[in-house]
Amino acid sequence: MITLSVIKADTGGFVGHSAVHPRLMAEARREIERAKSSGLLIDGHVESCGDDISLIMTHTYGQEAGLIHSFAWDTFQATTHLAKELGLYGAGQDLLSDAFSGNLRGMGPGYAELEFEERPSEPVLCFLADKTEPGAWNLPLYRMFADPSNTSGLVIDEKMHAGFAFEVYDLHEDRRIVFDCPADLYDMLMYIGAPARYVIHGVRSKTLGMTAAATSTQRLSLIAGRYVGKDDPVMIVRCQSGLPAVGEALEPFAFAYSVAGCMRGSHHAPLMPVATGQAHPSRFDGPPRVVALGFQIKDGKLIGPRDMFDDPAFDGARRQAVEVMDYLRRHGPFEPHRLPLEDLEYTTMTSLTKRLAHRWTPITTEVATPVGG
Ligand code: F6R
Ligand code: MG
Ligand code: MG
Repeated sequence: MITLSVIKADTGGFVGHSAVHPRLMAEARREIERAKSSGLLIDGHVESCGDDISLIMTHTYGQEAGLIHSFAWDTFQATTHLAKELGLYGAGQDLLSDAFSGNLRGMGPGYAELEFEERPSEPVLCFLADKTEPGAWNLPLYRMFADPSNTSGLVIDEKMHAGFAFEVYDLHEDRRIVFDCPADLYDMLMYIGAPARYVIHGVRSKTLGMTAAATSTQRLSLIAGRYVGKDDPVMIVRCQSGLPAVGEALEPFAFAYSVAGCMRGSHHAPLMPVATGQAHPSRFDGPPRVVALGFQIKDGKLIGPRDMFDDPAFDGARRQAVEVMDYLRRHGPFEPHRLPLEDLEYTTMTSLTKRLAHRWTPITTEVATPVGG
């Protein structure tokens, strides 16, 4: 068995929240090389999307392994140190705890992990997003694994026809449920259509009995109890031979669907699929970006990556994202561009409520100061 771990954190932005400084990337790569030579990792790759660094690692320690998580934590400490030296913005932003204890759960960095028996050929996609939240994976995962209009394999591949099981987390109540699709599809959509609260954590093939997808399902604001930035999610999808083909797994992103995030984590904006060189959201801290790194895994080695959205076939989605961004921006501070009150990551409402309390009067009573005198 091998484990593929994608662990990410924003340890400082260059400039503002738009990208990762090259020196932080070099530092993370050095750490990965060291971990490979020491035998901790079989292989590793470092990539960024926006202001987040992702460590993509293969090893034999399983999911939530202390050794791997503490390695990632130490690496993020090292990049934070450098970020402070360079005066980068929000240095150490996602490191919410002072000390590492056991694993990264609740500590700030996001992670998606899959432990599996490597198939003779193991094509895997690692998706990294910036300026959005883990629920942003709900729509594409539904399309990949449950929507026959997206994935023709659900209809015409014997190994897919029985469907997939989706594990969904309720981030507000700290509970989970498994939906058996297609039978439970309409039930599931009632929940996952509300991605701020219900988030797909993993997907399993019913026929093959193997886990096919995993997401990072932490919400920083809920962990920290205060605004600390949207928790820019990552996702792993295994492909082919009874799982969605690579093209079926990428297809949902040919539509620039709307996600929560963007400026101050408080706006709806289209998700733009881009090549890694374009993953630096600067306009209104958006539009939110997604990159897809393709690997073939062989004996745990990461053969790749291929920059999967570096394909003119996604130009239409990129154009659409710019158009939708223009359209939404013209709403200014109004919904549906601005998030509903309960989902705002930034808000002045708490202080306004206190400050204006005495000026609110029941509509049925006389107005204290008549409008227009
Ligand atoms: C989004 C994000 C940014 C910041 C924004 C304001 O995830 O991190 O949109 O919220 O740039 O940042 P501050 O309050 O740090 O000036
Ligand atoms: Mg940031
Ligand atoms: Mg980010």
